[in-house]
Amino acid sequence: MKTLSNISRISEIGMILAKYGFGDILLRMDLPIKNLGGKISSAIDPDINIFKRIRMAIEELGPTFIKLGQVLSMRPDLLPTPLINELSKLQDNVEPLHFDVIEAILEEEFDMPLDSRFAEFDPEPVASASLSQVHRAVLYGLDVPVAVKVRRPGIVGIIETDLDILAMVARQGHDNIDALKVYDLPGMVKSNRQTLLREIDFSREARYIQVAHSRVGRDENIYIPSVYPEHSTEKVLVSEYISGMKISLDMALSDACRKTLAKAGVKSAVIQILDQGFYHADPHPGNLLVTRDNRLCLLDWGMVGRLSSEERDHLLLLIQAVADRDTRRLVDLLLDITTVTSEKINRSFLEKDLMDLMDVYLAISLKEIRVKNMLVDFVQVLKDHDLRLPADLSMVIKALITVEGSARMLLPELDVMSEAEPHIRDLAAGRYSVGHMWQRLRSNLSSFWALQRHLPGSLSAIVKQVENGNLAIQFKHRNLDTFQKVLESSFNRLTLGIVLGAMIIGSSMIITTGVRPWLFGYPALGMIGYLIAAVIGLWLVIIIIRRQNY
Ligand SMILES: Nc1ncnc2c1ncn2[C@@H]1O[C@H](COP(=O)(O)OP(=O)(O)O)[C@@H](O)[C@H]1O
Ligand SMILES: [Mg+2]
Repeated sequence: MKTLSNISRISEIGMILAKYGFGDILLRMDLPIKNLGGKISSAIDPDINIFKRIRMAIEELGPTFIKLGQVLSMRPDLLPTPLINELSKLQDNVEPLHFDVIEAILEEEFDMPLDSRFAEFDPEPVASASLSQVHRAVLYGLDVPVAVKVRRPGIVGIIETDLDILAMVARQGHDNIDALKVYDLPGMVKSNRQTLLREIDFSREARYIQVAHSRVGRDENIYIPSVYPEHSTEKVLVSEYISGMKISLDMALSDACRKTLAKAGVKSAVIQILDQGFYHADPHPGNLLVTRDNRLCLLDWGMVGRLSSEERDHLLLLIQAVADRDTRRLVDLLLDITTVTSEKINRSFLEKDLMDLMDVYLAISLKEIRVKNMLVDFVQVLKDHDLRLPADLSMVIKALITVEGSARMLLPELDVMSEAEPHIRDLAAGRYSVGHMWQRLRSNLSSFWALQRHLPGSLSAIVKQVENGNLAIQFKHRNLDTFQKVLESSFNRLTLGIVLGAMIIGSSMIITTGVRPWLFGYPALGMIGYLIAAVIGLWLVIIIIRRQNY
């Protein structure tokens, strides 16, 4: 049954590809169906730019491809800029479903007639997209109107069939075409399968809205609609209806209001990404409304990004390295974060290219910098040097570009960089404060504590394996003696470095307590700590310089 639906869908895809002039693609593949698209000549003017034709074909191919295209539009590090621009335009407005269909879905989901749950239900949809349709309604017992987002029927099956076909094509491309190997197409389809299937699970979106409501909605200029989890399921999402204004250049809103909201939007994005590590990944104007009391409402929490504390630290360090014009540190960080897709990387060329880029952008005032241009140029340099960004970071870049686009839709002359700068500075200061470091030290100590508790158990398991003769270790060694010596001395220095760091942090904390006795006007214990750290530190530096192995 599944193969049958796959086969008929492959023919359909073949027809659409042929229509837009890509008929030969499927012919080159070893698919269960042969020679379909190639027979049909292209129905579209072949003079239309290839990237535009790709976008048009994707729109006709339906939701899976549209969503995939939207995800790929977040990969300026992989794809050429004109294609990214086309993919960013992907529209998914489709013919609305008849109200009877919506009514049947809701009655089945709630197991009761529609009018037992809703006092009012507007049969005219507010919006109709390829994955869902939104209606305005009023719940019994509640005076406020709600937005009911209903998942299109059969959409899971369509998406799964499409993803199976894409996985097959990706595997073939990966195995047979060497130039495609670096893109890891099968991996890409797999991670998109997860993103897409998550996005159509509305109970997940309901949870995300709850998180957003408690965290992001604290800013007085930002509004997140409430969600009604007790009325929401995997297929239906009921949230507070916002009768707001769509964002556009010609909407009726005072300049002062536009300015406040644009600034609030940028601030919120910076805090969501760099502080909270939970952010709206697609804040395009269609997902924003201005409420009646002039607040910026963020709708559609189907796609959110998450960044771990470490990833947020990395991002802040990257920004700091750029601000300090420290290309060496920047390259170190980039090599740590990215995946190198070629055999060898030329570090000094990379440094020079980054220096060029910084010269260009740091020479002009923040006011004139477009976040989009800067990030696209930056990603281009990475691409030129065969460095691939992790998907999480690409998502941040795309979100930032979208934030700039939406903010400038509110206020075209908004200087996004200057707006973001003080918030980033505050966050960086907070992250490297004594309090924060203490917190991190504690968390590291607790991991160490957990490790030392498990260590005896793990060791005894290893010993047991040795006793039973089951422990196999593969060893290949060359010049192991020298290596061991280097390793030992590196470890000793590293340990000394860590002890020094701990002493400095500990002494700093003691200094702030003001305990007696004092030495030179400060708590003696802290001062002694500093002195010992200084002596050992100096000694360490002298040894390293003397042996010239830094
Ligand atoms: N709570 C709401 N209040 C008012 N309008 C809404 C609400 N939720 C959705 N809409 C309308 O429905 C459209 C589609 O909803 P959205 O959640 O963005 O779905 P999709 O995931 O298909 O983009 C929005 O652009 C907005 O116009
Ligand atoms: Mg939306």
